[in-house]
Amino acid sequence: MIAREQWGSRLGFVLAAAGSAVGLGNIWKFPYMAGQNGGGAFLILYLVLVFTIGISVMLAEFAIGRAAQRDPVGAFAVLKGKLWPLVGGMGILAGFIILSFYSVVAGWTIAYIIKMATGSLVGDAEALGAAFGGFIADPVQPILYHALFMGLTVAVVLGGVHGGIERACKVLMPMLFVLLLVLIGRAITLPGAEKGLEFFLSPDFSKINGDMLNGALSQAFFSLSIGMGAMITYGSYLNKKENLGKSALWVSSLDSTVAVLAGLLILPAVFAFGFDPAAGPGLTFITLPAVFAQMPAGTFFGILFFVLLTVAALTSAVSLLQPIIAYFSDEWNWNAKATAVIAGLVIFLLGIPSSLSVGIWSDIHFIGEKGFLDSMDYIASNILLPVGGILISIFVGWVVADKMKDEVTNSGEKPFPFMTAWLFICRFVAPVAVAWILVTGL
Ligand code: PHE
Repeated sequence: MIAREQWGSRLGFVLAAAGSAVGLGNIWKFPYMAGQNGGGAFLILYLVLVFTIGISVMLAEFAIGRAAQRDPVGAFAVLKGKLWPLVGGMGILAGFIILSFYSVVAGWTIAYIIKMATGSLVGDAEALGAAFGGFIADPVQPILYHALFMGLTVAVVLGGVHGGIERACKVLMPMLFVLLLVLIGRAITLPGAEKGLEFFLSPDFSKINGDMLNGALSQAFFSLSIGMGAMITYGSYLNKKENLGKSALWVSSLDSTVAVLAGLLILPAVFAFGFDPAAGPGLTFITLPAVFAQMPAGTFFGILFFVLLTVAALTSAVSLLQPIIAYFSDEWNWNAKATAVIAGLVIFLLGIPSSLSVGIWSDIHFIGEKGFLDSMDYIASNILLPVGGILISIFVGWVVADKMKDEVTNSGEKPFPFMTAWLFICRFVAPVAVAWILVTGL
């Protein structure tokens, strides 16, 4: 067997993991979740969860992956065996489910590049809302864009860990960051934007309830790419010199910074234009064209924005597909390239009902009132990822703690000052808190 592929550099690993974390979750999902769940209080809850439980689970995944140098299923088998590989299996399943609807939404962002360029996104709140609603309800076009996005994802994965993923992240992620800052400059100076800033930045803790907690938790897991083994897989391509604790801190910080920036961009604009902050999944797509219309060279910025958002989605999509490929090639010796193509095809097919569910199939409900896309999101983000997170925490905190202590200190070479806190969170806080939030949410 040839040596396992490795990241090219420290920065390469952190940026690739940040590329996995930063995606539609930050820019599409976070603003509308915050908009639906009370703004500021949601933000605070979210940040608390990210920097306690989220960062700990991420570190746990890095450590498992690097210690085992295997895909998520194999990693548990190498470290302990018994029933634990099932946790990895659950993650592989979550990868299929998440990518199927993720790719549909990413397809919308590709379509919006073209709509920006052709100048078809004009008009008031109502017109932009109708344009979005009309587009996603079309039975054909969004599926073609979904196919295109899955094709791109497979193509990047075929480029390999080092060449494909790492190179794309290094250039484009910083660009996205800078563009967000520029756009925020426009959004917060719109007349009426203060109301949005206040909504987002001054928390009203009396609004905290079970739904909000559940939303913040599932959002934290989804946005950090944790609970399904994506970070185990990325950790498995890592050499023994990297400082895992620092990497987890960097990735979590970058990810939440981008989420906060997206909130600072979307929510002030929502209030300035008189849109409804609780409008749901269309919020980013409806609000941003209105912002671009109000700025010099708006078309240019609009095109650039949706291009970069597509790339951010692509680097996340790749991290959803990679564990699947690692699993079939590490465990079953399947050819990685063939696996990428087959898995890509299966995920494309699984995404079709998601696409139709916001159009001609919108009357068909699966979980409660939820259509297919929302049900897939719910099963993955509200159940599989948090349950995966509980089990990963228990595994690291109770089952293989000594090995993991060794792993995060690079066999004693790098001190890790938060060892006690980390193990305490993995042993007690994460399992109890996540289980409690899950149960109250159901
Ligand atoms: N974190 C990604 C985003 O925010 C989505 C993702 C979830 C990627 C789970 C990998 C694993 O867009």
